[in-house]
Amino acid sequence: METAIAGYTYGSDAVARSPLSAEEFDLLKKTVLFGAEDERYLRLAGEVLADQIEAVLDVWYGFVGSHPHLAIYFSSPEGVLDTEYLTRVRARFHQWILDTCNRPYDTDWLNYQQEIGLRHTRAKKNLTDHVRSVPYIGMRYMIAFIYPITATVKPFLANKGHSAEEVEKMHQAWFKSIVLQVTLWCLPYVEPANF
Ligand code: HEM
Repeated sequence: METAIAGYTYGSDAVARSPLSAEEFDLLKKTVLFGAEDERYLRLAGEVLADQIEAVLDVWYGFVGSHPHLAIYFSSPEGVLDTEYLTRVRARFHQWILDTCNRPYDTDWLNYQQEIGLRHTRAKKNLTDHVRSVPYIGMRYMIAFIYPITATVKPFLANKGHSAEEVEKMHQAWFKSIVLQVTLWCLPYVEPANF
């Protein structure tokens, strides 16, 4: 299944290694108040979102596509949108939603966060899909994206008849996970001594 997604190398030797130790990762989880209850609610969110993922991606891709300063990252340096690049990344994005909800946040997961971070930077952007595009995504947009990626998912979490309290807990767990992940993705952007 997993190998069917072009460029999705989760768990393989091709994935970068996270420089973060398990202890350092634990402290980061504590900092965003991420615990066992969040893991349970992420699993529930995974069930709720499972048959809605393409609709979620339509919203996110619509958001990127309607903002030229974001669309350039999927375009050639001359500004022509690369629809094949969009499509290939979309398949991995789909899988990432499932991984965010269902994977244990273990060493393989931590390493893949380093890989995803690198794929947004000058070190690895464009390499996976062999495309000619702008060389990196500004870190400011990585951080700022936490808001739309979090806010837009809530209506989907509420679509399957769960109570307002359950929806809120799923949403908070999602929010924490996104903050955690984007923090890890910033690692390859900065001097290790400052991280
Ligand atoms: C790749 C999520 C911010 C543009 C990816 C992938 C995921 C992802 C899951 C695929 C990872 C893989 O290869 O397996 C996110 C999330 C973000 C974020 C959750 C912030 C909360 C951004 C921003 C842009 C962007 C702000 C700018 C439009 C891209 C591009 C790729 C990519 C162009 C392909 C990189 C490559 O060449 O491999 N993103 N992203 N991302 N994302 Fe993001």
